[in-house]
Amino acid sequence: MSVKRTRLIALCSGLLAVAGAVAVMPSASAGTTLRAAAAEKGRYFGTAVATSRLSDSAYASIINREFSSLVAENDMKWDATEPQQGRFSFTNGDRLVSHAQANGMTVRGHALLWHAQQPSWAQGLSGSALRSAAINHVTQVAAHFRGKIHSWDVVNEAFADGGGGGRRDSNLQRTGNDWIEAAFRAARAADPGAKLCYNDYNTDGVNAKSTGIYTMVRDFKSRGVPIDCVGFQSHLGTGIASDYQRNLQRFADLGVDVQITELDVAQGSNQANIYATVTRACIAVSRCNGITVWGVRDSDSWRRDENPLLFDSNGNKKQAYTAVLNELNAGGPSSPPPSPSPSTSTSSNPQPGGGCTATVSLNSWTGGFVATVKVTAGSAPVNGWTVTVSLPSGSAVTSAWSATNTGTTGSVAFRNVSYNGGIAAAGSTEFGFQGTGNGPAATPVCQAG
Ligand code: G3I
Repeated sequence: MSVKRTRLIALCSGLLAVAGAVAVMPSASAGTTLRAAAAEKGRYFGTAVATSRLSDSAYASIINREFSSLVAENDMKWDATEPQQGRFSFTNGDRLVSHAQANGMTVRGHALLWHAQQPSWAQGLSGSALRSAAINHVTQVAAHFRGKIHSWDVVNEAFADGGGGGRRDSNLQRTGNDWIEAAFRAARAADPGAKLCYNDYNTDGVNAKSTGIYTMVRDFKSRGVPIDCVGFQSHLGTGIASDYQRNLQRFADLGVDVQITELDVAQGSNQANIYATVTRACIAVSRCNGITVWGVRDSDSWRRDENPLLFDSNGNKKQAYTAVLNELNAGGPSSPPPSPSPSTSTSSNPQPGGGCTATVSLNSWTGGFVATVKVTAGSAPVNGWTVTVSLPSGSAVTSAWSATNTGTTGSVAFRNVSYNGGIAAAGSTEFGFQGTGNGPAATPVCQAG
């Protein structure tokens, strides 16, 4: 780990220093927590979590107050979820999902396939035996968490560092260059409602590595390989590439969403500025769905000697926290970014006064669709909601998650479940459903109460 850290910092140190002041006056409707302020910008704000630490009440109370998306720092990786071939272990991952749902949060999935943290049995495989074990792993894990993950890191860190922009050598890469697309196809089949991401580090500006990934994403989009998003880990040192935002935007322009997935920044005079720059970039790029920081307090971090997080080891908010919050609040609320997936359409209904609104994003294919519905409270908190959608003739709902439906054809009403009925003023939650035929074309109607 320290070798990689050193390399990250060395790479960053030669880059331009951050421009722009940290201090931005909060707007009149300023959110007072990261999750509330991010929601006003239509984004999630997440953190990596060690499930075993959730019993630490100081840790859990920061998480529950500040974050709207959780990702398992280690508990959903291959070595954790399939310690012996074909024998799956989801206890910790399930606990994390339950904690998120009980506290009105969504979940990122990390990571289905990676050259590191493989169980020893997989490290000993090669060729077609490894390929089929890997695809089985993707299928079983994505199917287990189906409907509960907003975005999966399907493949993590498959590109090499250095100047070539090519793939990293690994046992997975040696099964054939098509291993990445095979993984994405398997993940889509197992959980059609999740956004599927490629995730990597040292991709913080336009460089050989990010360009190699860019070329792969462009190729995938042109051939219909199901990729929806790219994760930029953003483990940063004491500088940040001057073209950080431009790099996010060039990926968004390919028709994928972008997400900041593992943000942490070495402590130093520039820490708050760098956090602010990353936050500003995500808000400026409409397809940037949200930011995840890689841990809660400095003492929780994999880089703890660099104090790289938003809370100090006693759980106090740092300057970097204030910098992020101010950037999230700058300019007041804005509408959510356009939706995620390929072949996606979005519709929204205007706010009829109090209550709630709903926006639908569709991921459609011939004969079927997955709809992700975002329910947003107006200026007052909502306690219970019903969203009614109109399906075209011949279409039917086959399953729903995070909501229960009445009816499956024509006018279908979706009612909140126990953990997502309460929404803070201007806050939001998501549910989804899958169906045959075509998805709803008309505007959904949201009713509070
Ligand atoms: O749980 C065992 C414990 O039982 C044992 O006693 C101890 C002894 O070393 O190890 C513990 O496991 C460690 C695990 O973290 C949980 O703390 C592993 O050794 C250690 O290797 C592992 O490190 C994780 C690292 O990925 C592995 O590569 C870090 O927590 C985690 O933050 C880090 O996360 C990665 C992302 O997944 C991908 N991007 C880079 C990022 C930082 O390296």
